[in-house]
Amino acid sequence: MSDARITDQEFALFQRLIYKLAGISLNDTKKDLLVGRLGKRLRHFQLPSFASYYRMLATGDHPNEVQVMVDLLTTNETYFFREPNHFEFLRAEVVPRRRNGAPLRVWSAASSSGEEAYSIAMLLADTLGDAPWEIVGSDICTRVLARAVTGHYGLARTEGIPPDYMRKYCLKGVRSQAGTFLIAPELRQRTRFFQLNLMQPVDTVIGDFDVVFLRNVMIYFDPPTKARVVHNLLPRLRPGGHLIIGHSETLNGITDRLITVRPTIYRKP
Ligand SMILES: C[S@@+](CC[C@H](N)C(=O)[O-])C[C@H]1O[C@@H](n2cnc3c(N)ncnc32)[C@H](O)[C@@H]1O
Repeated sequence: MSDARITDQEFALFQRLIYKLAGISLNDTKKDLLVGRLGKRLRHFQLPSFASYYRMLATGDHPNEVQVMVDLLTTNETYFFREPNHFEFLRAEVVPRRRNGAPLRVWSAASSSGEEAYSIAMLLADTLGDAPWEIVGSDICTRVLARAVTGHYGLARTEGIPPDYMRKYCLKGVRSQAGTFLIAPELRQRTRFFQLNLMQPVDTVIGDFDVVFLRNVMIYFDPPTKARVVHNLLPRLRPGGHLIIGHSETLNGITDRLITVRPTIYRKP
């Protein structure tokens, strides 16, 4: 925790900035969180106040610092096979009804450090056999994406991975890598990550998807931002494809362009 103090006016500046950049709504109860996360940047630059840090960001003299601030203000909690019924839905409903011949494409649209994308990869590798598939993971936070690309995690993160997936798709580290594991190369080869801000329209170059996971990110957004984010990514979901959101989230009142299949799972007509 930093010893820096923040005034209400300074906090309001950062609330507006992170809302504008990432769509993240920080309510007044998040003051301590912001001071804790950004206080170290004040110390790093030996700045006397949050107002001076804000000015530094606004002048553009340290262009990389804006990304550092965004990275620090995102919450990246995630784990393998989080909310398992979504993976069961993939196995039971999506895989058996896939389009003949075409690769099954899944997008983990707020992938954090990659656990969600690699959980999907394990399930597709297991259920699709030789049939083609690919996964795209994206996030606004560059720090977690760098981690995702490596596919390298601590063994403490394996809770939730079924034991046979652990055997088939996770390589346990030895010697200097003891206590860690690596996602198998044949899964990493089919899983790509890149930075994408959900607030921006999505470039068609990313391609179209059979399933989009948009889980546990809309909790940080207000209703207009949720609507904008869903509007941005819906063009990339194929007709008949599914959008899956987190268990504590809903699209009620956000869009009428999707059919509810069951709570948190939607289909594009
Ligand atoms: C709590 S994690 C969820 C990870 C994973 N989907 C899960 O359910 O376990 C939320 C992620 O959303 C990302 N995020 C927040 N705002 C974003 C935005 N505007 N565009 C893209 N990603 C964003 C954060 O960086 C963070 O990694």
